[in-house]
Amino acid sequence: MAGRRPIIAANWKMHKTHLEAIQAVQKLSYLLEREDAERVEVVVCPPFTALRAVQTLLDADRLPYGLGAQNVHWEARGAFTGEVSALMLQALRCAYVIVGHSERREVFGETDDVVARKVRAVYANGMIPILCVGETLAERDAGGTEDKVVGQVRAGLAGVGDDDAARVVIAYEPIWAIGTGRNAEPADAGEVIGLVRATLAALYSKDLAEGVRIQYGGSVKAGNIRGFMAHPQIDGALVGGASLDPEELALIVKYR
Ligand code: PGA
Repeated sequence: MAGRRPIIAANWKMHKTHLEAIQAVQKLSYLLEREDAERVEVVVCPPFTALRAVQTLLDADRLPYGLGAQNVHWEARGAFTGEVSALMLQALRCAYVIVGHSERREVFGETDDVVARKVRAVYANGMIPILCVGETLAERDAGGTEDKVVGQVRAGLAGVGDDDAARVVIAYEPIWAIGTGRNAEPADAGEVIGLVRATLAALYSKDLAEGVRIQYGGSVKAGNIRGFMAHPQIDGALVGGASLDPEELALIVKYR
Protein backbone atom coordinates (compact mmCIF):
# COMPACT_ATOMS: atom_id res chain seq x y z
CA MET A 1 0.00 0.00 0.00
CA ALA A 2 2.87 2.34 -0.83
CA GLY A 3 3.50 3.77 2.63
CA ARG A 4 -0.12 4.60 3.37
CA ARG A 5 -0.97 4.03 7.04
CA PRO A 6 -4.01 1.77 7.27
CA ILE A 7 -7.14 3.25 8.79
CA ILE A 8 -9.84 1.14 10.39
CA ALA A 9 -12.98 3.00 11.37
CA ALA A 10 -15.81 1.65 13.51
CA ASN A 11 -19.19 2.90 12.31
CA TRP A 12 -21.53 2.19 15.19
CA LYS A 13 -24.55 3.56 13.32
CA MET A 14 -27.59 3.96 15.61
CA HIS A 15 -26.21 1.62 18.26
CA LYS A 16 -24.90 2.15 21.80
CA THR A 17 -26.00 4.66 24.42
CA HIS A 18 -23.24 6.92 25.68
CA LEU A 19 -22.71 4.52 28.58
CA GLU A 20 -22.36 1.56 26.24
CA ALA A 21 -20.02 3.55 24.03
CA ILE A 22 -17.76 4.39 26.98
CA GLN A 23 -17.71 0.74 27.98
CA ALA A 24 -16.82 -0.37 24.45
CA VAL A 25 -13.94 2.11 24.11
CA GLN A 26 -12.59 1.14 27.54
CA LYS A 27 -12.70 -2.52 26.59
CA LEU A 28 -11.00 -1.80 23.29
CA SER A 29 -8.23 0.02 25.12
CA TYR A 30 -7.52 -3.11 27.17
CA LEU A 31 -7.46 -5.30 24.09
CA LEU A 32 -5.24 -3.14 21.88
CA GLU A 33 -1.54 -2.54 22.43
CA ARG A 34 -0.02 0.86 21.74
CA GLU A 35 1.75 -0.65 18.73
CA ASP A 36 -1.55 -1.79 17.23
CA ALA A 37 -2.82 1.77 17.21
CA GLU A 38 0.50 3.04 15.87
CA ARG A 39 0.52 0.66 12.95
CA VAL A 40 -3.16 1.16 12.16
CA GLU A 41 -5.10 4.38 12.69
CA VAL A 42 -8.16 3.43 14.73
CA VAL A 43 -11.23 5.68 14.52
CA VAL A 44 -14.45 5.26 16.48
CA CYS A 45 -17.65 6.81 15.15
CA PRO A 46 -20.34 6.65 17.84
CA PRO A 47 -23.76 8.31 17.53
CA PHE A 48 -23.91 12.06 18.21
CA THR A 49 -25.23 11.46 21.72
CA ALA A 50 -22.06 9.58 22.70
CA LEU A 51 -19.45 11.85 21.10
CA ARG A 52 -18.90 13.99 24.17
CA ALA A 53 -18.59 11.01 26.50
CA VAL A 54 -16.15 9.21 24.20
CA GLN A 55 -14.10 12.36 23.60
CA THR A 56 -13.75 12.89 27.35
CA LEU A 57 -12.57 9.30 27.80
CA LEU A 58 -10.08 9.50 24.93
CA ASP A 59 -8.64 12.70 26.39
CA ALA A 60 -8.55 11.57 30.01
CA ASP A 61 -6.81 8.29 29.27
CA ARG A 62 -4.80 9.65 26.33
CA LEU A 63 -6.12 6.86 24.14
CA PRO A 64 -4.62 6.96 20.65
CA TYR A 65 -7.87 6.61 18.70
CA GLY A 66 -9.47 9.15 16.46
CA LEU A 67 -13.02 10.33 17.02
CA GLY A 68 -15.44 10.48 14.12
CA ALA A 69 -19.04 11.54 13.62
CA GLN A 70 -21.43 9.70 11.32
CA ASN A 71 -23.09 12.70 9.70
CA VAL A 72 -23.07 16.50 9.68
CA HIS A 73 -25.07 19.44 8.41
CA TRP A 74 -23.44 21.74 5.87
CA GLU A 75 -24.32 25.04 7.58
CA ALA A 76 -22.43 26.20 10.67
CA ARG A 77 -25.56 27.25 12.59
CA GLY A 78 -29.13 28.30 12.06
CA ALA A 79 -32.74 27.21 12.03
CA PHE A 80 -32.18 23.55 11.16
CA THR A 81 -34.06 21.66 13.84
CA GLY A 82 -32.42 18.39 14.72
CA GLU A 83 -29.19 18.97 12.81
CA VAL A 84 -25.57 19.10 14.03
CA SER A 85 -22.94 21.30 12.38
CA ALA A 86 -19.29 20.75 11.53
CA LEU A 87 -18.45 23.64 13.85
CA MET A 88 -20.00 21.70 16.73
CA LEU A 89 -18.19 18.50 15.80
CA GLN A 90 -14.88 20.31 15.58
CA ALA A 91 -15.47 21.73 19.07
CA LEU A 92 -15.72 18.12 20.29
CA ARG A 93 -12.36 17.44 18.64
CA CYS A 94 -13.76 15.09 16.08
CA ALA A 95 -11.09 14.35 13.51
CA TYR A 96 -13.32 12.60 10.98
CA VAL A 97 -16.88 12.72 9.71
CA ILE A 98 -18.48 9.95 7.67
CA VAL A 99 -20.18 11.65 4.73
CA GLY A 100 -22.49 10.15 2.14
CA HIS A 101 -22.94 6.74 3.73
CA SER A 102 -25.32 4.72 1.57
CA GLU A 103 -27.85 4.67 4.42
CA ARG A 104 -27.85 8.49 4.38
CA ARG A 105 -28.21 8.50 0.62
CA GLU A 106 -30.86 5.78 0.41
CA VAL A 107 -32.91 6.21 3.60
CA PHE A 108 -32.56 9.98 4.00
CA GLY A 109 -32.41 10.99 0.36
CA GLU A 110 -28.99 12.65 0.35
CA THR A 111 -27.99 13.67 -3.14
CA ASP A 112 -24.49 14.04 -4.53
CA ASP A 113 -24.89 17.79 -4.13
CA VAL A 114 -25.77 17.47 -0.44
CA VAL A 115 -22.82 15.13 0.05
CA ALA A 116 -20.47 17.64 -1.62
CA ARG A 117 -21.73 20.46 0.61
CA LYS A 118 -21.13 18.34 3.69
CA VAL A 119 -17.63 17.41 2.51
CA ARG A 120 -16.75 21.09 2.10
CA ALA A 121 -18.19 21.95 5.54
CA VAL A 122 -16.07 19.22 7.12
CA TYR A 123 -12.90 20.62 5.53
CA ALA A 124 -13.83 24.20 6.39
CA ASN A 125 -13.80 23.12 10.03
CA GLY A 126 -10.46 21.37 9.96
CA MET A 127 -11.76 17.80 9.92
CA ILE A 128 -11.43 15.00 7.37
CA PRO A 129 -14.37 13.43 5.55
CA ILE A 130 -14.67 9.69 5.16
CA LEU A 131 -16.48 9.90 1.85
CA CYS A 132 -18.57 6.78 1.15
CA VAL A 133 -19.27 5.55 -2.35
CA GLY A 134 -20.68 2.33 -3.74
CA GLU A 135 -23.04 0.66 -6.16
CA THR A 136 -26.27 -1.28 -5.66
CA LEU A 137 -26.55 -4.90 -6.75
CA ALA A 138 -28.69 -3.87 -9.74
CA GLU A 139 -26.05 -1.37 -10.82
CA ARG A 140 -23.32 -3.98 -10.47
CA ASP A 141 -25.30 -6.57 -12.44
CA ALA A 142 -25.91 -4.01 -15.19
CA GLY A 143 -22.18 -3.28 -15.45
CA GLY A 144 -22.63 0.18 -13.93
CA THR A 145 -20.25 -0.06 -10.99
CA GLU A 146 -17.53 2.13 -12.47
CA ASP A 147 -19.90 4.88 -13.59
CA LYS A 148 -21.64 5.00 -10.25
CA VAL A 149 -18.54 4.96 -8.08
CA VAL A 150 -16.45 7.30 -10.21
CA GLY A 151 -19.43 9.66 -10.47
CA GLN A 152 -19.86 9.73 -6.70
CA VAL A 153 -16.15 10.42 -6.14
CA ARG A 154 -16.15 13.29 -8.63
CA ALA A 155 -19.37 14.77 -7.27
CA GLY A 156 -18.36 14.37 -3.63
CA LEU A 157 -15.08 16.21 -4.17
CA ALA A 158 -16.58 19.03 -6.24
CA GLY A 159 -14.92 22.29 -5.25
CA VAL A 160 -12.30 20.59 -3.07
CA GLY A 161 -8.75 21.84 -3.65
CA ASP A 162 -5.54 19.80 -3.67
CA ASP A 163 -4.53 20.35 -0.06
CA ASP A 164 -7.86 19.13 1.25
CA ALA A 165 -8.25 16.32 -1.28
CA ALA A 166 -4.85 14.96 -0.25
CA ARG A 167 -6.30 14.24 3.22
CA VAL A 168 -9.60 12.65 2.20
CA VAL A 169 -10.43 9.10 3.19
CA ILE A 170 -12.68 7.30 0.75
CA ALA A 171 -14.71 4.24 1.74
CA TYR A 172 -15.74 2.01 -1.11
CA GLU A 173 -18.81 0.18 0.16
CA PRO A 174 -20.81 -1.89 -2.31
CA ILE A 175 -24.35 -1.48 -1.00
CA TRP A 176 -25.18 -5.15 -1.47
CA ALA A 177 -22.37 -6.03 0.95
CA ILE A 178 -23.42 -3.72 3.78
CA GLY A 179 -24.94 -5.53 6.74
CA THR A 180 -25.70 -8.57 4.61
CA GLY A 181 -22.86 -10.86 5.64
CA ARG A 182 -22.05 -11.03 1.96
CA ASN A 183 -18.69 -9.30 1.55
CA ALA A 184 -17.12 -8.44 -1.78
CA GLU A 185 -14.11 -10.47 -2.89
CA PRO A 186 -10.89 -8.58 -2.08
CA ALA A 187 -9.83 -8.74 -5.73
CA ASP A 188 -13.12 -7.17 -6.90
CA ALA A 189 -13.05 -4.50 -4.19
CA GLY A 190 -9.40 -3.80 -5.00
CA GLU A 191 -10.24 -3.36 -8.66
CA VAL A 192 -12.92 -0.75 -7.93
CA ILE A 193 -10.63 0.98 -5.45
CA GLY A 194 -8.00 1.11 -8.19
CA LEU A 195 -10.56 2.95 -10.33
CA VAL A 196 -11.21 5.38 -7.49
CA ARG A 197 -7.46 6.02 -7.26
CA ALA A 198 -7.27 6.57 -10.99
CA THR A 199 -10.12 9.07 -10.68
CA LEU A 200 -8.18 10.97 -8.01
CA ALA A 201 -5.15 10.95 -10.27
CA ALA A 202 -7.23 12.43 -13.11
CA LEU A 203 -8.87 15.04 -10.86
CA TYR A 204 -5.69 16.02 -8.99
CA SER A 205 -2.40 14.25 -9.61
CA LYS A 206 -0.86 10.79 -9.55
CA ASP A 207 1.17 11.70 -6.48
CA LEU A 208 -1.90 12.85 -4.61
CA ALA A 209 -3.82 9.73 -5.61
CA GLU A 210 -1.01 7.48 -4.37
CA GLY A 211 -1.17 9.09 -0.95
CA VAL A 212 -4.93 8.91 -0.38
CA ARG A 213 -6.27 6.14 1.83
CA ILE A 214 -9.17 4.18 0.43
CA GLN A 215 -11.06 1.75 2.63
CA TYR A 216 -13.27 -1.18 1.82
CA GLY A 217 -16.55 -1.53 3.72
CA GLY A 218 -19.31 -4.13 3.70
CA SER A 219 -19.50 -7.13 6.05
CA VAL A 220 -15.89 -6.83 7.17
CA LYS A 221 -15.11 -9.02 10.16
CA ALA A 222 -12.14 -10.60 11.91
CA GLY A 223 -12.43 -13.63 9.63
CA ASN A 224 -12.06 -11.76 6.33
CA ILE A 225 -10.08 -8.57 7.11
CA ARG A 226 -6.73 -10.11 6.20
CA GLY A 227 -7.75 -10.79 2.63
CA PHE A 228 -8.74 -7.16 2.15
CA MET A 229 -5.62 -5.76 3.80
CA ALA A 230 -3.42 -8.00 1.66
CA HIS A 231 -4.64 -6.23 -1.46
CA PRO A 232 -2.21 -3.46 -2.40
CA GLN A 233 -5.02 -1.00 -3.22
CA ILE A 234 -6.95 -1.41 0.03
CA ASP A 235 -5.85 0.79 2.93
CA GLY A 236 -8.27 -0.17 5.67
CA ALA A 237 -11.90 -0.78 6.41
CA LEU A 238 -15.08 0.94 7.48
CA VAL A 239 -16.70 -1.61 9.75
CA GLY A 240 -20.32 -1.60 10.88
CA GLY A 241 -21.85 -4.63 12.59
CA ALA A 242 -18.59 -6.37 13.54
CA SER A 243 -17.26 -3.20 15.18
CA LEU A 244 -19.98 -3.21 17.85
CA ASP A 245 -18.15 -5.96 19.73
CA PRO A 246 -14.83 -4.61 21.07
CA GLU A 247 -13.23 -8.06 20.93
CA GLU A 248 -14.09 -8.47 17.27
CA LEU A 249 -12.99 -4.90 16.54
CA ALA A 250 -9.66 -5.51 18.29
CA LEU A 251 -9.10 -8.63 16.18
CA ILE A 252 -9.85 -6.63 13.04
CA VAL A 253 -7.31 -3.96 14.03
CA LYS A 254 -4.75 -6.68 14.79
CA TYR A 255 -5.41 -8.34 11.46
CA ARG A 256 -1.83 -9.41 10.72
P1 PGA B 1 -21.29 -3.62 7.86
O1 PGA B 1 -21.49 -2.05 7.60
O2 PGA B 1 -19.87 -3.81 8.29
O3 PGA B 1 -22.28 -3.94 8.96
O4 PGA B 1 -21.58 -4.32 6.59
C1 PGA B 1 -20.49 -1.30 6.97
C2 PGA B 1 -20.93 0.12 6.84
O5 PGA B 1 -22.13 0.37 6.62
O6 PGA B 1 -20.11 1.04 6.96
